[in-house]
Amino acid sequence: MIGVFDSGLGGLTVVKELHRQMPGYRIAYFGDTARTPYGGKSKELISQYALEDARFLVSRGAQIIVVACNTASAVAMGTLRAELPVPVWEVISPAVAAAVKVTKGRIGLIGTRATVGSGTYQHHLEIEAPEAEVFAEPCPLFVPFVEEGWHRSKAVREVARTYLNQLKLRRIDTLILGCTHYPFLRPVIAAAVGKGVRLIDPARETVAALKRHLAVNPELAKSLDRVGSDSYTVSDRTDQFARIASDWLGRPVELETVRLG
Ligand code: DGL
Repeated sequence: MIGVFDSGLGGLTVVKELHRQMPGYRIAYFGDTARTPYGGKSKELISQYALEDARFLVSRGAQIIVVACNTASAVAMGTLRAELPVPVWEVISPAVAAAVKVTKGRIGLIGTRATVGSGTYQHHLEIEAPEAEVFAEPCPLFVPFVEEGWHRSKAVREVARTYLNQLKLRRIDTLILGCTHYPFLRPVIAAAVGKGVRLIDPARETVAALKRHLAVNPELAKSLDRVGSDSYTVSDRTDQFARIASDWLGRPVELETVRLG
């Protein structure tokens, strides 16, 4: 079983990609909706929450953990890899690899304050493409718009124009959507940065990388449980979450509630 966790709703972008690119694998999802957002919290607290989320999934039988949350991927990987008994995948390295492949040298990065402030994306980019220029912009208001289901609203288009104008002026050619929620806003972000900018979706790239990894590790692929249905657990259930989840995944989503910590 593949365990996927996020601070809340946004990690469903990874689940959607798993359904699309790797149909048939059984998924256990955990969204820490009671403690979301992670993006403005300290490294210590994010690492503690991420570890509790991942341990919950392992207790449910997850054989691989995908850290869908960019914020947790940026600050908690040391803790997760040291503490967990299963392989742990993060979303940053695959996104950086994809960006480096297509860029002409001017890369934009957007994410939460914790993700941008951690410097993890910038560090990976520096290693993979030392000659590229990187321009980073935290966009903290995007997450609540998505959580409210306002991802197609006029208000979010205005906010996107304000946030992304700086990156547009810098003439970026590639933009990393460094937060789980941003693929929900893809058309809005694409319109705000203008034509000719390649958008990199970490969810899509991470699942593609996992799929390639399983293709060359057939034993691991075979060991992953495919029988049974997916499960969706949250630490606080709201009708809003249930509605957006079903809408985004295009299938009914039954939510179980479990409090952690
Ligand atoms: N899941 C977080 C991320 O990808 C965004 C939401 C939050 O701040 O918790 O960075």
